[in-house]
Amino acid sequence: MRRSRFIRQVPVLLVVASLSLGCGDDTPSPEHEDAGGPSTTLRQLAARAGKRIGAAVDAAALATDETYASVLAREFDYVTPENAMKWGPLEPVDGSYAWADADDIVEFAEAHGQEVKGHTLVWHRQTPSWVDSSMSADELSSALEDHITTTMTRYKGRLRAWDVVNEAVDVATDSGFTQSVFYEVLGPSYIADAFRWARAADPEALLFYNEVGIERLGEKSDFTYDLMQELLDQGVPIDGIGLQSHVSTHRYPSLNDLQANLRRFASLGLVLNISEVDARTRLMPGEKESRLFAQRIAFQQIVSACVLEAGCEAVTFWGFTDKYSWINDEGPEDPLLFDRDYEAKPAYDGVVDGLAGERPALGPNLVPNGDFSQEDAGWSSDAELNSIDDDVLDMRAVCVTGRDGGSMGLSRAGLLDALSGGGPFSFQARVRIEGAESVSVEARLLVEEPASGEPLQELNIAARPVTNGEWMELAGYFGLGFESSPTAITLTLSSTPADVDLCVADVRIESVSAR
Ligand code: XIL
Repeated sequence: MRRSRFIRQVPVLLVVASLSLGCGDDTPSPEHEDAGGPSTTLRQLAARAGKRIGAAVDAAALATDETYASVLAREFDYVTPENAMKWGPLEPVDGSYAWADADDIVEFAEAHGQEVKGHTLVWHRQTPSWVDSSMSADELSSALEDHITTTMTRYKGRLRAWDVVNEAVDVATDSGFTQSVFYEVLGPSYIADAFRWARAADPEALLFYNEVGIERLGEKSDFTYDLMQELLDQGVPIDGIGLQSHVSTHRYPSLNDLQANLRRFASLGLVLNISEVDARTRLMPGEKESRLFAQRIAFQQIVSACVLEAGCEAVTFWGFTDKYSWINDEGPEDPLLFDRDYEAKPAYDGVVDGLAGERPALGPNLVPNGDFSQEDAGWSSDAELNSIDDDVLDMRAVCVTGRDGGSMGLSRAGLLDALSGGGPFSFQARVRIEGAESVSVEARLLVEEPASGEPLQELNIAARPVTNGEWMELAGYFGLGFESSPTAITLTLSSTPADVDLCVADVRIESVSAR
């Protein structure tokens, strides 16, 4: 008989009941109050929205920290072992498995009415040291099949879903695939094989491909989309895709990008998960309060994107308290929903609003003459600037022509008054290039902030590949904060390489608020 070291039973129904009666309880309660109603938990709100709300679980914290366990039980209805089901931790020595942590998490979930997603059967990190490129293709392939079969069989019928393959795409390599031991020894066919072995081991579990950095439109999400399409065309049993969504408040994808991306993956017939959400705040300078507000907006945006897309079934956060986030490995951070004392942060309210399907609201356009209705007034360029009426967009636009390799492109000074208060902003512009198959078009803010010791700070606020002759949307959200008072802010639009014609229309910077 399988024995676990412990099952921590948290009386979740009692906790919920006492919250709704407003009784005292030593379980920390979220600040949020429903309009006119009692406090509700994220799992209650998610259930109302027809979505799952998940968290990655740290086995050591679950075993030792009672508050951690009670908040996990109270707020989430979907759990993913953060490390306990990875190959390295599970089978550190060939043939000898360490199941205890994974068992504990599954038993905890079952005791608290939570579903489980396993994570992750094939990944180039946290692979056991005995799995290496000295193995022959036959040896590695049978070791992988054995690992998938053994692991999935142990939990067969108990897990809703599995991340089967994680992070197999790396567009920085020649092949577009991550240089892992699997790719090196087996070639890309290991991906299809892994899904087929997984389907055979537990035919009821939903099988996910999980990937980092594919939230925004661009090369990596395009490559991943093509890969999914190709595998599905070959009959490979992939049921869903996870967009990890590790973001930072200083720069993250726009809601439009995220939704467009979710939609195109859904059109392949894939179930969608937003699978590993967290948001660093400290890359954005400025006061803690404004960084935490930007994080609230980021979470609201991500969660509302899932709620608004029928094919999206779950948002999972990569942990829930700042106390244990993996982001702290690089220095203390505040990436999650609860602080180190389990107090709900503004981020929690962002999730509440997102679960209600409330998109963040945008204010008026802060870029003077951003629609070019006054031709190129206020805009400048180091090359030639022409103002045009564009028939395709049915809008005014400006085109920069005669650019050489060092051209800056287009710029608009005088944004200091509009932006110096900082905060989360949305950036959006229509861009078109002429003269190369595809170039990267970037939007930057040049901030003069002499007191910081750095006379000019350059912030990249959006970038994307743009193909010849087509209008495309360049968009992103960014958090802006300052260590000291800036003295000038200029927006620039440029391209790499620089020697192409660049046309721009409908440039907008709008401040983002919760409602
Ligand atoms: C991370 C864990 O959170 C850390 O504790 C561990 O040291 C490394 O892995 N993408 C993934 C997750 O798919 O498995 C990673 O988890 C975070 C990035």
